[in-house]
Amino acid sequence: MTVVADLSRNLPPPVPETNQAFRAALTDLLVETDFTALTRTHRFMGTERDRIQGGKWLARRLGKAPDPERVVLTNGTLSAMNMIYPAIMRPGETLLTEPLTYPAVPAIARQYGFRTESVACDVDGMVPAALDEACRRFKPKALYCLATLQNPTTLVMPLSRRQEIIEIARRHNLAIVEDDIYSALPEDAPPPISALAPDISWYILGLGKSFTVGLRFAYVAAPSGAEAKRAFWPGVRSTFWMAAPITAAVVSHWMESGMASRLFEAVRAEAASRHAMAISALAGLDFASPPGAIHGWLKLPNGQREAFHAQLKARGVLAGDAAPFVTDGGPVPDAARVCFGSPETRDELAVGLRAIAETTVEVSAHPSLTGERK
Ligand SMILES: Cc1ncc(COP(=O)(O)O)c(C=O)c1O
Repeated sequence: MTVVADLSRNLPPPVPETNQAFRAALTDLLVETDFTALTRTHRFMGTERDRIQGGKWLARRLGKAPDPERVVLTNGTLSAMNMIYPAIMRPGETLLTEPLTYPAVPAIARQYGFRTESVACDVDGMVPAALDEACRRFKPKALYCLATLQNPTTLVMPLSRRQEIIEIARRHNLAIVEDDIYSALPEDAPPPISALAPDISWYILGLGKSFTVGLRFAYVAAPSGAEAKRAFWPGVRSTFWMAAPITAAVVSHWMESGMASRLFEAVRAEAASRHAMAISALAGLDFASPPGAIHGWLKLPNGQREAFHAQLKARGVLAGDAAPFVTDGGPVPDAARVCFGSPETRDELAVGLRAIAETTVEVSAHPSLTGERK
């Protein structure tokens, strides 16, 4: 199959400023840096300077910079989670998630022998009564959540719901692991749960979805300096979770020079243009994508999920299937994730969006008899 438009991968849109930002940072670093010293050892949790710069970036979401002792530089969100869960949970204990969630999280849980249970969501995200009930029933240790632009559903939990979740978490001694990776681009996202309850939260802000995915970099704000050390000090586990020294040096240079903001704003502007294209192309369909999102969640006609993807592929277009996001063997919703950033160009995006709109209407008008039944 020749792919003419790939809207299946959740990447930030490509912008020329990425190239400029790397060139500027690497040129300066070549002049200023003693690379023997830079690469002689690991960067571990980040230098004092890295963690201060990181704190300033985190302040954009957390409201104020966390104490640098709480800040850890990591080789991306996944690496951070591979350290955090085993630090706060033992095999056999339960991690709560949303019913549809980032597929890597249940996979990490399986790897470490944790159980996962999902908590029902409504239009405002996780349902407080369902969370309370799950806490009583499963005595979970931690909750993984994406309160802002949930992957895949794009739900944004309003402030009042965040406060309710915190109240229940405190009552049941539940740690919160908040993945805020999609939160940076929207202009008006509510504050993270971690800003409201830092003492029980592990906050992770990956740069992969707002800068560029291959950077492999995420900041963590731990509940305390002591907890950060306990989870991340490199002796404790045999994985290279820490940011590579050259990457850390580039990111800190971007933060100090203002280049981080320039690159980020360029991605934000391109993402907004693509978001507008998607909203217009999919108007009239059951499509959720709040401002600032780089993906949207498209509801499909009942039982037509497989037919939709088959017909779309026949046109050379890819959208994200819902199946991998289902955590607990529950039914796969008739929906698809549509990603605006993965096409190389806006033309490719336009081709993909048109095909998605037409295919949704087609499977609705002529339902496939072989379509999946619920
Ligand atoms: C919700 C979520 N968290 C984390 C990641 C990956 O983050 P990183 O590249 O920082 O490991 C993704 C990537 O798809 C994601 O969707």
